[in-house]
Amino acid sequence: MSEKLAISGGEKVREKPFPPHPMIGWEEKKAVMDVLNTGRLSSFIAAPGKAFLGGEKVRELEKRFRKYHGTKYAVAFNSATAALHAAVVACGVQPGEEAITTPYTFTSTATCVLMNNAVPVFADIKPDTFNINPAEIEKNITPLTKAILPVHLFGNPADMDEIMEIAGENNLKVIEDAAQAPGAKYQNKLVGTIGDCGIFSLTENKNITSGEGGVLITDDKEIAEISRLIRNHGEAVIVGQQRRYNSTILGWNYRMTEVDAAIGIEQFKKLDDFTNERIRLAKYLSDGLRDIDGLEMPITYHGNKHVYYVFAIKYDERKIGIPRDNFVEALNAEGIPFGAGYIKPLYLSPLYHENKPFIYKHYKGNASYEKGICPIAENCHFKEVIITLLTRPPATFDDMDDIIAGVNHLSLTPLEGVRKGLVP
Ligand SMILES: Cc1ncc(COP(=O)(O)O)c(C=O)c1O
Repeated sequence: MSEKLAISGGEKVREKPFPPHPMIGWEEKKAVMDVLNTGRLSSFIAAPGKAFLGGEKVRELEKRFRKYHGTKYAVAFNSATAALHAAVVACGVQPGEEAITTPYTFTSTATCVLMNNAVPVFADIKPDTFNINPAEIEKNITPLTKAILPVHLFGNPADMDEIMEIAGENNLKVIEDAAQAPGAKYQNKLVGTIGDCGIFSLTENKNITSGEGGVLITDDKEIAEISRLIRNHGEAVIVGQQRRYNSTILGWNYRMTEVDAAIGIEQFKKLDDFTNERIRLAKYLSDGLRDIDGLEMPITYHGNKHVYYVFAIKYDERKIGIPRDNFVEALNAEGIPFGAGYIKPLYLSPLYHENKPFIYKHYKGNASYEKGICPIAENCHFKEVIITLLTRPPATFDDMDDIIAGVNHLSLTPLEGVRKGLVP
């Protein structure tokens, strides 16, 4: 290995790219062809009755989600964002009311609230798992609070017992954003099955994909029915009757196509195998990096199952001796893709400052989006977290060895950091 770092003109630790993701097999290809051969690419409106519930493949995907999770209902959408939007309506969050969520997540965990003219309130996270801190949820409850939206960030379950207890005491609905966590378990229970409803994403880079897609699961009949209406222009299509174009509530076209559903079914069959592989790779990588003083490997609480959508490491700049962003830049130069932080805490986005289109004019609360409201999330994002998506099949232990070699190749003492030009 080159003495010099790649960032200073040395040889890279890894020249070739990491294996591409997602893994699409012949099964997905055949399933797509089978749908194309039927000539029915979507089936929600053309025929009376059952068509309202979706095409054959959509219904099969939903059935598989129901069976796997042991829930009474599953409703497929064309994205998890659409599913979240429907869930917020179905859970009865009204304009001007508040829903508490984490700022350390993808934008749609909060925009689904804004889409209903309701107001997201951000509660800070825990510094070890990066998930929402139940104690911070409690501090943010007001008479306007209607729901809690915990996210199982990176595939690691949020503290659902505490969250459900707070929800029970305050009569709040719980919408689990499990977009990143299909197959993850909280105390042996599959995530998504603990709150009033749960949502999964099948977008292109997730643990399983249908291209685009989302699925809502619930045991609550009303949530399922309202979600189905919202998916279909709010139209009540009565089984066995001709379509009458009666929109009973506000809805959109959030329908999943048969092609997407067919891909989703094949991917869903592989979920457990993919998950086991992610866990195996993550364990190998953790073991290989664990001894480096200043890097803390992902933490999974006892009794939980983390499915490693993202492999997130806690970086201690003082111990490593190199500013985090310089470290990540140098690692990328070695051919090892890592990110500095994740997504900046959502309330720091211009959306929450420049336009404020969402503050419902009759809103009577005091939600704040000022810098500093969630100091732990800010600290994690701007200083302490480094992430990679590489602990996923078809990557192998050899690929993990390159990551380990890349990290080790960077200087891990302040003195070496200065010598190698990584410390200003
Ligand atoms: C936590 C979280 N919530 C929601 C979404 C939205 O999912 P989709 O892209 O399927 O709309 C994503 C991912 O993209 C996500 O990571």
